[in-house]
Amino acid sequence: MTALKDLRLAMVGSGNMVEAMIGGLLRRELAGPQQVVASGPRQERADELHKRYSIDVTTDNVKAAHDADIIVLGVKPLTLPIVTSELRGKIKPESLVISIAAGARIKSIARGLHHQAIVRVMPNTPAQIGQGISVWTATRQTDERQRAQAQQILSALGEEIYMQEERYLDMATAVSGNGPSYVFLFMEAMIDAGVHLGFPRRVAQELVLQTMAGSVAFARQSAMHPAELRNMVTSPGGTSAESLYQLEKGSLRTVVSRAIWAGYQKSKLLGDLSEAQKEEEDSH
Ligand SMILES: NC(=O)c1ccc[n+]([C@@H]2O[C@H](COP(=O)([O-])OP(=O)(O)OC[C@H]3O[C@@H](n4cnc5c(N)ncnc54)[C@H](OP(=O)(O)O)[C@@H]3O)[C@@H](O)[C@H]2O)c1
Repeated sequence: MTALKDLRLAMVGSGNMVEAMIGGLLRRELAGPQQVVASGPRQERADELHKRYSIDVTTDNVKAAHDADIIVLGVKPLTLPIVTSELRGKIKPESLVISIAAGARIKSIARGLHHQAIVRVMPNTPAQIGQGISVWTATRQTDERQRAQAQQILSALGEEIYMQEERYLDMATAVSGNGPSYVFLFMEAMIDAGVHLGFPRRVAQELVLQTMAGSVAFARQSAMHPAELRNMVTSPGGTSAESLYQLEKGSLRTVVSRAIWAGYQKSKLLGDLSEAQKEEEDSH
């Protein structure tokens, strides 16, 4: 049975990620359209969402959130402080707040809303087709029932992994949140290399996409370590060995490791900055 039965869900900020969530919830029948209300600043967007999903819509965030049992904050991180101060004192104390805003720490959201039951999530873009992976954490003021509700909402975006400590969210930002951008860059580099060899771009693209999709499916099904899978296609003195030698010589592993480390440091820094900004605003 759905953990969301009879609950009222408010989506405050209804852009791409929230639309993916609404679509997934309705498609998987985890919630009905009458349970969902979406808010945002533009009437045209509200009309579009109503037409597409038959959900309730409004341009008034407070109206959407005031009687909701679960409030999803789907605005951009820079808009979040505006929305939290708008909603401060306007949501039911027993409601659950779920923030998907990248980098916004629980402490800042709690201070902005004067609310403690909060789930913070780092989703990623394949969520748009229900193939994402979200890493999430929850405050100790959330109960088991609310965590089950959060888990079900996030399942609408794909896989989800709960971590007990918030510090993992910065790590998730660098690995899975930003991850699709690394994969797309690698994809692009391989396609361009195929075109360099002489393949028509369309053919190079199909070769690369299916090679990636097939390799992921194979790695999942075989449950072997990636090194074992790689060794299987690396004949002594062969062509793979030659190409892999060049990738190692170009320090691919070190570059990847440095890139992910840099993303992690940046995520922590942005979190610190937004927390400091919130503290300064509150002191005025
Ligand atoms: N996309 C990703 O891969 C990804 C990954 C991880 C985390 N996230 C997080 O997910 C959140 C949403 O991202 P997104 O890609 O869905 O962005 P988006 O499409 O730009 O959605 C943001 C929505 O917020 C609306 N909005 C702006 N001001 C508002 C206000 N004052 N009150 C209510 N709504 C307002 C926008 O409306 P208008 O369009 O009318 O301005 C827009 O519909 C962000 O915080 C982002 O950090 C996204």
